[in-house]
Amino acid sequence: MPLCDCSKTSCFASKLHSKQGWVRSVRAQKANVFLHVNDGSSLQSLQVIASSELNDPLLTFGSAVEVTGILKKSPHQKQPVELDAKQINVVGECNPVDFPFKIKERHGLEYIRQFPHLRCRTNAFSSLLRIRSEATAAIHSYFKDNGFVEINTPIITSNDCEGAGELFQVEPSGPDHADGENFFSVPAYLTVSGQLHLEVVSGAFSKAYTFGPTFRAENSQSRRHLAEFYMVEAEISFTQSLEDLTKVMEDMFRFATEHVLAHCVEDVDLFHKHVTPGHRDTVDAMLKNSFPVITYREAIDILRRSSERFAFPTDWGCDLKTEHEKYLVKHCGNIPVFVTDYPYDLKPFYARDNQDHPERTAAAVDLLVPGVGELCGGSLREERLNLLSARLEEAGLEDVYSWYLDLRRFGSVPHGGFGLGFERYLQCILGVDNIKDVIPFPRFSHSCLL
Ligand code: 4AD
Ligand code: MG
Repeated sequence: MPLCDCSKTSCFASKLHSKQGWVRSVRAQKANVFLHVNDGSSLQSLQVIASSELNDPLLTFGSAVEVTGILKKSPHQKQPVELDAKQINVVGECNPVDFPFKIKERHGLEYIRQFPHLRCRTNAFSSLLRIRSEATAAIHSYFKDNGFVEINTPIITSNDCEGAGELFQVEPSGPDHADGENFFSVPAYLTVSGQLHLEVVSGAFSKAYTFGPTFRAENSQSRRHLAEFYMVEAEISFTQSLEDLTKVMEDMFRFATEHVLAHCVEDVDLFHKHVTPGHRDTVDAMLKNSFPVITYREAIDILRRSSERFAFPTDWGCDLKTEHEKYLVKHCGNIPVFVTDYPYDLKPFYARDNQDHPERTAAAVDLLVPGVGELCGGSLREERLNLLSARLEEAGLEDVYSWYLDLRRFGSVPHGGFGLGFERYLQCILGVDNIKDVIPFPRFSHSCLL
């Protein structure tokens, strides 16, 4: 709870202060009642001491209160002040029998997930939301400090950037729109990536980024897929090699993580001590070591040499699955690892051809991280008009993407970019196993609660 205005000595005068929040604990003694009141601004609650006449049966765990009283220096080390209450008003009662969270119980993430409308009232989830907010701010600062311009790429789009067909179509609902005509005259979808719009902008801005919601109709209940997630995407013009991208990915990861560790000490501690014990060591190791880079060919060789039995094939040309990604991360010392130069045929039309026959690869890179697997995906983009138009023609897409080809006709430069899954990033730094526990309102197949 913000105590700033009150922790100054001048505030300890007999002036009355009113504080609002939700009761996190109640303890009644003979003469006094002790409350902890929390307003969501931090994990710290304000300790309130009231004489027992002010006790009210409605003062229960979870109830909303307004407390008026005098702030005093606290004898306890952990909190600078406490409020000597003169008046307590129960603004909103909370029946402790029906309320799904119980006082003093540490509920697991899986349990609280059942109550998406109430889980922000738990310590763990409120800490998560503050960390999420701070990490968002850190990512924006990283880009601002490094000369990137933020671009609001559209949520509704007519392209399928990844070409994977995992699109949600957008049409109006209701009988007025039942004539079968597309509202936008063309099929329109929720965006799967802002990349192509960032590429438009990168024809005039050498560094651009976007950070927004992304939608994929993946029929997956996995612990790392959502139908709606947040993606950070950057696009850089005048690139020389994949290293220009891996440097930004690694720098951003370090900057954001160090910022979160420094600014959310108590909230992160809650996770690292109580939710995912031991994970702090993994995070420290990630920050201490620079991220190794291996090629896809080397990754395949490592997997094929391993004695592990994988469910999916590890032949050259096969997509790396989560089991492979996790193995590679472990193999490299349980720190993030870049895998570069994937088979050309595995990557979407925009990936730059390395022209390295016979093992044709594309200048693409994924960042794999402990516990999660793929955190970022990126590539150099095919900036050469003849190669790009040939590939689009092969896929029968040259008309749909004539505007994209124009970008290569007018002032085309070598460029590239990447996308980072923001929820997977939070999973990675907090050690949270299930992606549904790091987003306020998870959306996934067969579930759209609230
Ligand atoms: O690897 P992806 O598909 O890359 C792209 O969309 C590029 N167009 C980005 C770019 O170059 N601008 O997605 C990027 C990241 C993944 O590495 C993963 O972390 C996350 O987005 N991601 C998901 N996160 C949660 N749920 C899903 N269904 C996700 N799909 C991808
Ligand atoms: Mg990917």
